[in-house]
Amino acid sequence: MNAEQYLASLKPYPPQEAFFIATCRRIAYGGARGGGKSFAMRNKMILLAMAHPGIQILLLRRTFPELRENHILPLRKVLGRMAKYTESTKEFAFKNGSRIKLGYCQNEGDILQYQGQSYEVVAMEEATQFTELQYHALTECCRLSGYLRDGFIPRMYFTCNPGGVGHNWVKRLFIDKNYRQGENPEDYCFIKSTVYDNVFMMENNPSYINNLESLPPLRRAAMLEGNWDVFEGQCFPEFCREKHMISPFAIPEDWVRFAALDYGLDMTACLWFAHPPDKSCLCVYRELYKPNLLLSEAGEQIASLCQGEDIRYIASSPDLAGRRQDSGRSGFDLLRGAGVRGLRAADNRRIDGWRRVREFLKSEKDKEKYIKIFSNVTHLARTLPALSFDQKAVEDVSLTPHELTHAPDAFRYGIMSLSFLPSGHSVEGDRKHRRHNEYVNFFEK
Ligand SMILES: Nc1ncnc2c1ncn2[C@@H]1O[C@H](COP(=O)(O)OP(=O)(O)OP(=O)(O)O)[C@@H](O)[C@H]1O
Ligand SMILES: [Mg+2]
Repeated sequence: MNAEQYLASLKPYPPQEAFFIATCRRIAYGGARGGGKSFAMRNKMILLAMAHPGIQILLLRRTFPELRENHILPLRKVLGRMAKYTESTKEFAFKNGSRIKLGYCQNEGDILQYQGQSYEVVAMEEATQFTELQYHALTECCRLSGYLRDGFIPRMYFTCNPGGVGHNWVKRLFIDKNYRQGENPEDYCFIKSTVYDNVFMMENNPSYINNLESLPPLRRAAMLEGNWDVFEGQCFPEFCREKHMISPFAIPEDWVRFAALDYGLDMTACLWFAHPPDKSCLCVYRELYKPNLLLSEAGEQIASLCQGEDIRYIASSPDLAGRRQDSGRSGFDLLRGAGVRGLRAADNRRIDGWRRVREFLKSEKDKEKYIKIFSNVTHLARTLPALSFDQKAVEDVSLTPHELTHAPDAFRYGIMSLSFLPSGHSVEGDRKHRRHNEYVNFFEK
């Protein structure tokens, strides 16, 4: 049987078909339970082995029992005498020289066994069960093996559900599409499928669909609808893209504007807020989110973004107000030197602040404290729903992964600045100070 004949024997559903024909370097499929992920992955590997004589394929699951149930047993059944299976090495050898090797990496270190090996195709089933370190180690094995000479460009395939230890890296690459230096956006594609795409399950297993539909709301959203913004232990399940994100619009002249800054050398996160005089909503209309900026560089960029706008104050990381030992000048001094005006130490009461954030997110349209986030404020929208609760400090946000905390901290400073002005926190200039008192009454319409 050749690849065309094998493909003709399958009846892939439309998302599976898209997965079969995709050719970019990183192809992910699924995003929910029961969408035919394992079926698609297994069969794509067979098709590749048939179509590219000599190709070397590594197909992985996190644990051996999963590997056995989902792939070894079904592959043995399907391939029969088309490929010889060797139990000791867990590999299927095809007559044309192609090979599908199956593996698992239960412990972080198990990945080392693949170091120095070469596979044109590396496939990670349930990729969110793998750590980012394991993913990176596997990218190093994905290269030409020397057995294949048909111009095939090495690729990685993934299937995934939201949740799990690898939730954040998979979400970053395939859902948020937030790429780092050296990552080419065109290399990544995500094909979504849910159980509703799986005709076999819909027709033959309605009780499975019922089970998914009656899951608790958070798990249901993730597993049935493929929503990557919700997961167990999530701090702000109230965040909802459809409700909170809007297309940018020109902020009217009479709206009140202010900003909030969380500064660290690892990340400068500054958010700009605006609300109408009747305080019927609060918009986050701009963000600056950049790593490795010195304070003076961050200050220059903030000052430049504030130009031409009446930014009433900038609620900033309180530690910046203190004196810096190296220069003898405070962080505020350095920011002022770069042209930033209206600096004020933010109220950093974390638990009160997160409660206030939640109130804003929960608020309904046309009610007070209704929050809107412009669609260009991508890092806040990415990180706020990804925050999880701290394991020990009840109600506080986990400080890890640290990268997730910067934009939400700035968001919290901004929201806290609306109603808290502990005496002694100065706002630069009398005019600004008078104006600031308006905010003390933000909630009293
Ligand atoms: N194109 C297809 N034709 C026939 N049956 C299919 C097809 N796609 C999937 N199935 C069947 O649907 C069932 C579920 O598919 P599969 O196990 O691949 O889903 P999954 O997304 O991996 O599920 P899970 O989230 O539980 O891992 C299996 O019995 C599988 O054989
Ligand atoms: Mg599966």
